[in-house]
Amino acid sequence: MRETKIINSQWDFTKQGERVTLDLPHTWNGKDGQDGGNDYFRGTCTYEKTLKREDFPLGEEFYLQFDGVNSSATVYFNGEKLTTHHGGYSAFRVKLENIKDENKIKVEVDNSPNDFVYPQQADFTFYGGIYRSVTLIGVSHNHFSLDRFGSNAIAVTPDIKGNIASVNVKTFTQGLGEIHVFVDGKELVGSDVTFEIESPHLWNGTKDPFLYTATAQLVVDGVVEDEVSTKFGIRSFKIDAEKGFILNGEVYPLRGVSRHQDRPEIGNALSYEHHKEDMDLICEMGANTIRLAHYQHAQEFYDLCDERGMVVWAEIPYISKHLENGVENTKTQMTELIYQNYNHPSIVVWGLSNEITMAGSGKSVVDNHRMLNSLAHSLDSTRPTTVAVVTMCPIDDEYVHISDVVSYNHYFGWYGGKVDMYGPWFDKFHKKYPNKPIGISEYGCEALNWHTSTPEQGDYTEEYQAYYHEEVIKQIIDRPYLWATHVWNMFDFAADARAEGGENGMNHKGLVTFDRKYKKDSFYAYKAWLSSEPVLHICSKRYVDRVEDKTSITVYSNLDEVELFVNGESVGAQKKGKYPFFKFEIANVGESVILAKAGELTDEAHIRKVDKFNEAYRMKEEGAVINWFEINTPTGYYSVNDTIGDIMSTLGGKIAMLRIGKMMLGALKDDKPKEKGDKKKKKGASFAGFSFNTGMLKLAYGFTVKRAVSMTGGKFTKEEILRMNAILNKVKKKK
Ligand code: GCU
Repeated sequence: MRETKIINSQWDFTKQGERVTLDLPHTWNGKDGQDGGNDYFRGTCTYEKTLKREDFPLGEEFYLQFDGVNSSATVYFNGEKLTTHHGGYSAFRVKLENIKDENKIKVEVDNSPNDFVYPQQADFTFYGGIYRSVTLIGVSHNHFSLDRFGSNAIAVTPDIKGNIASVNVKTFTQGLGEIHVFVDGKELVGSDVTFEIESPHLWNGTKDPFLYTATAQLVVDGVVEDEVSTKFGIRSFKIDAEKGFILNGEVYPLRGVSRHQDRPEIGNALSYEHHKEDMDLICEMGANTIRLAHYQHAQEFYDLCDERGMVVWAEIPYISKHLENGVENTKTQMTELIYQNYNHPSIVVWGLSNEITMAGSGKSVVDNHRMLNSLAHSLDSTRPTTVAVVTMCPIDDEYVHISDVVSYNHYFGWYGGKVDMYGPWFDKFHKKYPNKPIGISEYGCEALNWHTSTPEQGDYTEEYQAYYHEEVIKQIIDRPYLWATHVWNMFDFAADARAEGGENGMNHKGLVTFDRKYKKDSFYAYKAWLSSEPVLHICSKRYVDRVEDKTSITVYSNLDEVELFVNGESVGAQKKGKYPFFKFEIANVGESVILAKAGELTDEAHIRKVDKFNEAYRMKEEGAVINWFEINTPTGYYSVNDTIGDIMSTLGGKIAMLRIGKMMLGALKDDKPKEKGDKKKKKGASFAGFSFNTGMLKLAYGFTVKRAVSMTGGKFTKEEILRMNAILNKVKKKK
């Protein structure tokens, strides 16, 4: 019988000549991958471990299984090179032979930049390391195959017709033996067998995520020599261009989030508890779908999705930029993703790529997508394919129409455009392509602990984020044809190249903070919309000191009526309208205790009248060379606080922007190391870690000049920014 042993403890880790002993999972970028500057260590480190013969499990053949090593791993056993695996998010195995009394495993792990392993350019940190478990597997000579792209050699395909489900189970073996398969109390013999289940208990999303188990035994001369088993679910689904997602014959709108997995200090080296905490938070919010971006996630997490009834979009990290030498890698990563995750009922689509035309579309992008699309279909005929398209990609682009369904990433109201543009944009797509299911794969905006009574696009306040999500939610509610919508992102995550919002190295679009400790107001906007539990939440609790005499209070609730009390006095009750958002105006005098009541629930907040704006609420950019009050903003004239798009809408503005643009490009081209050891400055014109192209310039229209400058990661001096401001101060605003 198969025996497995997790061997995570006591590995000798060497980085740049320094050796320490540590336990897996581990990354060497826990700190430098999260602190900004795009300067985290990307190179080769080694992990070594000695295994005595008695450390091995029972068995005649032995395999080593790696659940995740980023990005490339070369495995040596007793000095002999066994394999190199390229791809940091999928599992792989190697066979160990000639076991001695003492054996040495050495793994060279490499996350250095190259041009053939995805991802290379993306808005997240590529943490190097053996960041998931390592397992030793012992089997007899006759066993279920361990050489099928990291899969567990059992593939279950349920299919429902009327009241009967036929459940096909295929198994793959090495060696001899008779295969006995067990499902739902029945037994069949063979490597490709089909069970019939009458009135099956369906896997029905969050309502009832029922799971069956299939077990296969390999029997040789009456002895069970190996056994594998898997959970599976019986469900049918359809993605309809008009009705959206249909689960088991019923319309089931997919509304949820994307998830990045990393955490402070430990990066992607997560424990089961971390995965579970993430899932608990997503469930609390009331989501029923997760886009597991931008790579293959841990098996534990897909299992949790099955168990909690989440509908999942799974994808490979074919992202941001097509690499001519990376075609093979997209193929192996897609093959591994599908082989390793085929049995999960939660997964309904395979994502081929994300924002791949950011650096331009063309024949190779189209070819690569056609190849991946047929590969996915040939490996799995039960699931459609999808892509996440970058905002500026034209809807007629050939590549947009290759996958079975499609979604767009749009940041109207954040990077560029206004927040009310979602509805019209999707209506236009839907009208032109009425047979193509369209969804929103990403939308979102950043929020930190900054506050304001006058939220504005790009201000990084909790209030603007909440307002933004209210506005997008309203547009989604009115468009049931959207097959799935995914907020970017459930959690703040690290992207070492970023310099935004006052904390470098982070993307703050999460509904929940990086440490999972604080749920931002927008989390509750979703909870009030999606959860079936009663919800009552007063927003802006961290915004206590307020200057204005009358202030607004936003309350989120899915209950019929909300009543608000200030210092014990009712200021009125409001009935729930179409949306679960309630807006109150109250007088701001002295100290106020605000109490909201709805049904059985209450929530409380405190505000205080002050004369001067509390500067603790205003964004302070880390390492910023310039303070907001140093920027001259004469009325009627532009300043660096205006968006590039607004400035460019006048002739004078265009001329001014040409001068400013030259200053910017000049500084970025000159982006060579200024001194030895000055790691912050890297070669090549780049913007938040991405190299320039025209599409990115379009995106930049939504940025204020100041923000565009700050996103280059402190490449401009105060004097330079003030010079830009002086240029703009001479240009009259459009009337
Ligand atoms: C992109 C991308 C994400 C990124 C996000 C953002 O669309 O797909 O990986 O983090 O936008 O800018 O926040």
